[in-house]
Amino acid sequence: MSDPQKKNGISRRNFLKGMGTSVVGTATLSSTHSVLAAAETGPHGARIVGPDRVTITFDVNGHSHRLAIEPRETLLDALRDHLGYTGSKRVCDRGSCGACTVILNGRTVLACSMLAIDADGAKIETVEGLATDNLHPVQEAFVKHDAMQCGFCTPGFIMSGVMLLRKNQNPSSKDIRNGVSGNLCRCGTYPNVFSAIAEASNKMKKGG
Ligand code: FES
Ligand code: FES
Repeated sequence: MSDPQKKNGISRRNFLKGMGTSVVGTATLSSTHSVLAAAETGPHGARIVGPDRVTITFDVNGHSHRLAIEPRETLLDALRDHLGYTGSKRVCDRGSCGACTVILNGRTVLACSMLAIDADGAKIETVEGLATDNLHPVQEAFVKHDAMQCGFCTPGFIMSGVMLLRKNQNPSSKDIRNGVSGNLCRCGTYPNVFSAIAEASNKMKKGG
């Protein structure tokens, strides 16, 4: 009777042995990768960091922070989980909703889609830094126009609105729509958001 475990000349034992060899091969590849990742420069002079934690520094709302972070962590991880700036929200965590919008070196970025190590040395503004003694005019207008329901999207809309008004003090309604076009609101507060930004623009023009 033929061996049921032996088909096409390959026994079950030999097949498993072969698998073992493959696993060893994979492990060897990974450790080679780790050695490469630990190097400071790659084949074309690219900076390679990790796999251990990397020390970075950046400024958030006027405060300097230094932290040791894994190279895989995002700017949103750094802000929320390491530094406690929970104003920027993690909603989609994949760059499609805008809830994590912050201002970095004068432009809006999605903190969930940027590695923290790429923000090394940057100047970052989050929603927590907008109010001083009083709310920022954009925040005030959001309250007045009831431009939020659950509020998850709100910090992102506010940061986009603030950045828009820094670049354009006299935005048309089309400019306002374009300015916050990367921000999504599942509760559908768009009309109130647009009115709030328009009002903040008028107030800021008058020096409010
Ligand atoms: S949480 Fe970053 S874009 Fe949605
Ligand atoms: S207020 Fe709920 S998602 Fe915008």
